[in-house]
Amino acid sequence: MFHAQILTLFPEFFDTPLSCSIPKRAIAAGIVDVDCIQLRDFATDKHSKVDDAPYGGGPGMLMKPGPVVAAIREARKRQPDTHVVMLTPSGISFTQAKALEYTEKSGITLLCGRYEGFDERICDYVDEEISLGDYVLSGGEPAALCVLDSVIRLLPDVLGSPESAVLDSFTEEGILDWPHYTRPEEFEGKHVPDVLLSGNHAKIEKWRHEQAILRSRKADLDGVKHDG
Ligand code: ADE
Repeated sequence: MFHAQILTLFPEFFDTPLSCSIPKRAIAAGIVDVDCIQLRDFATDKHSKVDDAPYGGGPGMLMKPGPVVAAIREARKRQPDTHVVMLTPSGISFTQAKALEYTEKSGITLLCGRYEGFDERICDYVDEEISLGDYVLSGGEPAALCVLDSVIRLLPDVLGSPESAVLDSFTEEGILDWPHYTRPEEFEGKHVPDVLLSGNHAKIEKWRHEQAILRSRKADLDGVKHDG
């Protein structure tokens, strides 16, 4: 069983996404369990304060070190081998390779911040700082959800066919997936490429590989990645 823990002020954020589709099935099958730990439970003052103003002035509030570090300690107590990941726009970019790396661990703990960010000293208590991309979210929760979803679908026995994960975009040395088509054969004047209707599997495989390489080169040039 892969143990995921989420340190957050908003555990309810995860309710719907984890009760749909692949994450739901993985949890029901006992392949993964997900525990949310409420950061506010570790506040020590009577107002349960978890944020405070930055020294030196400036806008916004920061997550205080006390409650966050106490929550990290609780997460490590519950899962001693857990890998603690802070979600922050200043972390290293999350990739498919990183998702695969996490599946090799016994579990991960995802630390989500709100406000303007974390007190810098909290970084000393985590194993890794991860960013979803070069943009600022209103909190770490959407980033944690993306990380968790991408890891769950790679865990053994989660996807129907193990081939689907192996053939994903990015899995093969960062090469993107080829274009896919389903019925109908013609849609608003746009046709499915003849080769896919040929029944010639060697030719189809060659075409798909060429298309994937063309797409990846184009994405590199554009600085954009197509999905799936
Ligand atoms: N928190 C706010 N923005 C983020 C981002 N881009 N990635 C990870 N965590 C974040």
